[in-house]
Amino acid sequence: MYNKIDLREVPAERLKEISLDLVNIDAQAPEFEPNRQFYFMAKARDYVKRKSAELGRPMTFFTQTFGCQMNARDSEKLLGILEKIGYQETTDEHADFVLYNTCTVRENANLRVYGRLGYLNTMKKKNPHMMIALCGCMMQEPEVVEKIKKSYRFVDIIFGTHNIFKLAELLCMRFEEKKMVVDIWKDTDRIVEDLPTERKYSFKSGVNIMFGCNNFCSYCIVPYVRGRERSRKPEDIIAEIKRLVADGVVEVMLLGQNVNSYGKNLEQPVTFAELLRQVNEIPGLERIRFMTSHPKDLSDDLIEAMRDCDKVCRHLHLPLQSGSSQILKVMNRRYTKEQYLELVEKIRKAVPDIALTTDIIVGFPGETEEDFEETMDVVRRVRYDSAFTFIYSKRTGTPAAKMENQVPEDVVKARFDRLLAEVQKISSEVCGRDVHTVQKVLVEELDDHVEGYVTGRMSNNTVVHFPGNADLIGKIVDVYLEESKGFYYMGKQA
Ligand code: 5AD
Ligand code: SF4
Repeated sequence: MYNKIDLREVPAERLKEISLDLVNIDAQAPEFEPNRQFYFMAKARDYVKRKSAELGRPMTFFTQTFGCQMNARDSEKLLGILEKIGYQETTDEHADFVLYNTCTVRENANLRVYGRLGYLNTMKKKNPHMMIALCGCMMQEPEVVEKIKKSYRFVDIIFGTHNIFKLAELLCMRFEEKKMVVDIWKDTDRIVEDLPTERKYSFKSGVNIMFGCNNFCSYCIVPYVRGRERSRKPEDIIAEIKRLVADGVVEVMLLGQNVNSYGKNLEQPVTFAELLRQVNEIPGLERIRFMTSHPKDLSDDLIEAMRDCDKVCRHLHLPLQSGSSQILKVMNRRYTKEQYLELVEKIRKAVPDIALTTDIIVGFPGETEEDFEETMDVVRRVRYDSAFTFIYSKRTGTPAAKMENQVPEDVVKARFDRLLAEVQKISSEVCGRDVHTVQKVLVEELDDHVEGYVTGRMSNNTVVHFPGNADLIGKIVDVYLEESKGFYYMGKQA
């Protein structure tokens, strides 16, 4: 028998090459990351292997992600860990390990999770090997964790947004302790690099550039559940993107709650504009997207970088939230209606073909009919390609939740419907502007609706369907846009 590998002695960059079956899990766990997690992945893998032999079938997992792109990226990391451990993915909750990565930005996201938990309870009664884990933003709320501990005692593992890298370690604890494992960190200043990830798409990937948010918009729970802003070092980001490109990725989405304040807290500060310029130089990379920009931090330098960098896509998501300067003030957004409109003008001047999209909240406390009309006015002036519209949702712990002048539900609903109708009307007029031209389209998947067709996206994020087969997936092709259907095009390869 040859010696097994002691992970305390392996350099971090070599970890991914090592077969976990060769790791000495009888040695002590390394104290430092990411080695410690690779050790626990090996250990959990051993548990899973034994369980699988006992049952005479592979152990399976299912993950469901709620919420934003950040959560989607986190789930890819969780999936990477689960696959290393030896679980096989399945398509529904008939699985041995079910993980929900939750969102809490609006109340109905929470309600959906509680609803699903009731269903999981009945499944678990039928499969005693089943383990249920919950993570993500909702778990960062102490009341939620209390409620689960009290009323959903069949849940096995609860962790938060700051320690997703620890999944393997928590899983081992659960295998060993046979009781609910709860590990929530209030905040963190650490970023663990070099863990495995499993990408959903082979040709595009999200890349975290920063975590957390310092803005404290008065309605928003994100700063409480995602902690303070922490930026990754540019060299780590560039190295990750280069690895992704070597692995076939042509499009990256740089992710952060507020990418425009990227780099401020680094030892050697770097601006987001500088980072974009560096990423633009990476050979083999074709497209760069980013999300989300806060209007108050969008610098002239960034506008210039967007204009100059050929790989940066012609799309900017610029959340408005409200068109009323008065409401924006109470929201703590730190810009006025006029400043927002000036910014839009500046961007359009520098990058005339840019598509603008936004987020809007209807029914923030104190919103009057006049305030709402200001929002409609901005929508009509900017003419967004698309807008995500949300009904204000009261989040416990945020300043807005304590405001007394909450708007009655029927008034909010009526405004919401008016806004949605306006947004959709404008969007269907705007999106068709490139009809009868040839555009570069990144093919993403086979068309769900029409056989023999594929679906892709233009640089400005508009969807295009055209005849093609699976060989085109992940390729950027020239497509003639024959017909605009309002929100998307039908085309043919040029
Ligand atoms: N109610 C409604 N919408 C909200 N958002 C954030 N918090 C709330 C809330 N309490 C919206 C904002 C943000 C998007 C991600 O979610 O528009 O930009
Ligand atoms: Fe929430 Fe505002 Fe931070 Fe966006 S910028 S995550 S809306 S606090």
